[in-house]
Amino acid sequence: AARSRDNLRCPIIVIMGHVDTGKTKLLDNIRRTNVQEGEAGGITQQIGATYFEPSTLLNRCKKLNDTEKLDLTLPGILVIDTPGHESFTNLRSRGSNLCDLAILVVDLMHGLEQQTIESLKMLRSKGTPFVVALNKVDRCYNWKACANDPIRSALAEQEEGTVQEFRSRAEEAKVQLAEQGVNSNIYWEMGDDDWQSSDFVPLVPTSAISGEGVQDILLLLCRMAQEKLWRQLMWCGNLQCTVLEVKAIEGLGMTVDVIVVNGTIREGDKVVLCSMDGPVVSEIRGLLTPPPSREMRVKSEYIHHKEIKGALGVKLIGNGLEKVMAGTPIMVVGPDDEEEDIKAEVMSD
Ligand code: GTP
Ligand code: MG
Ligand code: NA
Repeated sequence: AARSRDNLRCPIIVIMGHVDTGKTKLLDNIRRTNVQEGEAGGITQQIGATYFEPSTLLNRCKKLNDTEKLDLTLPGILVIDTPGHESFTNLRSRGSNLCDLAILVVDLMHGLEQQTIESLKMLRSKGTPFVVALNKVDRCYNWKACANDPIRSALAEQEEGTVQEFRSRAEEAKVQLAEQGVNSNIYWEMGDDDWQSSDFVPLVPTSAISGEGVQDILLLLCRMAQEKLWRQLMWCGNLQCTVLEVKAIEGLGMTVDVIVVNGTIREGDKVVLCSMDGPVVSEIRGLLTPPPSREMRVKSEYIHHKEIKGALGVKLIGNGLEKVMAGTPIMVVGPDDEEEDIKAEVMSD
């Protein structure tokens, strides 16, 4: 199919930020899952991936979209969860390299912290557009939960003192961002010029526990993706694919978790991967994904596919995958390709 605005791939949205700001919990809220409570010590230690279908997005944003009226044209979104612990800088870097768009999660009670600033630098060095989630808004004194409501309706239900606390903490975050050279504003108070500006950052108050503002952040990300990033989201046939992780799965043997960014990968494809011993050639024997709205790093009832179109997180089954290195690309050997050329190309990246 020709590259066009009518044939977009899913945007890849990475969630980054300091440890324990609520990145995984925010995803749990959208998925209606409880991945965070199953993590060792409540700490994320791997990159995750979750695909959300358009119907799920529309359903989650229903109340807000009654007034916002976004005509969703995306085929869904792929959200990448990353660890915030300081020892996982390499995984944050890998996530930020893959993504089209990002959510930088800040704990409203703490303001900017060390890995917030580290993440900020990664995003800005790549010129990746992002929104800031001012999370844990429910921790403002006397907050009355308005489960899963748009944030403006939830704020309208709060007493004056609660709104004042929210206002002063949001202002503090804005000042701290300005100190890092980032212009930002509460997203519904941004002017037209701010929207046009490529480096102005919207702030979205959220609670990952009671869900206020989750509609807002989802709808805002979808709007940004389809209105500002559609050129880079045009689907194309060439496979663009990165290895996240290599792991043995009971009953499947050695598998490789990948993010298919763009293009198509099929069962039976001959692919070249990068291993510690040099290039390896393997035939794809299986393409597995978790169901929509389920985390790839959590064992589940995998769905088997004959082919996968990007963007999606996929588990590949094949021979000789043991020494494949995370963070490296995968290439398909096409009918007209010389295997040796592809080997050289894959290792040069
Ligand atoms: P790492 O991946 O380890 O960096 O942490 P994270 O950013 O994914 O944070 P996580 O989802 O693990 O949440 C950390 C803690 O904050 C948990 O105890 C959550 O229950 C709590 N938490 C997360 N979001 C909220 C929120 O919006 N409100 C409140 N009150 N607590 C929250
Ligand atoms: Mg986490
Ligand atoms: Na955590």
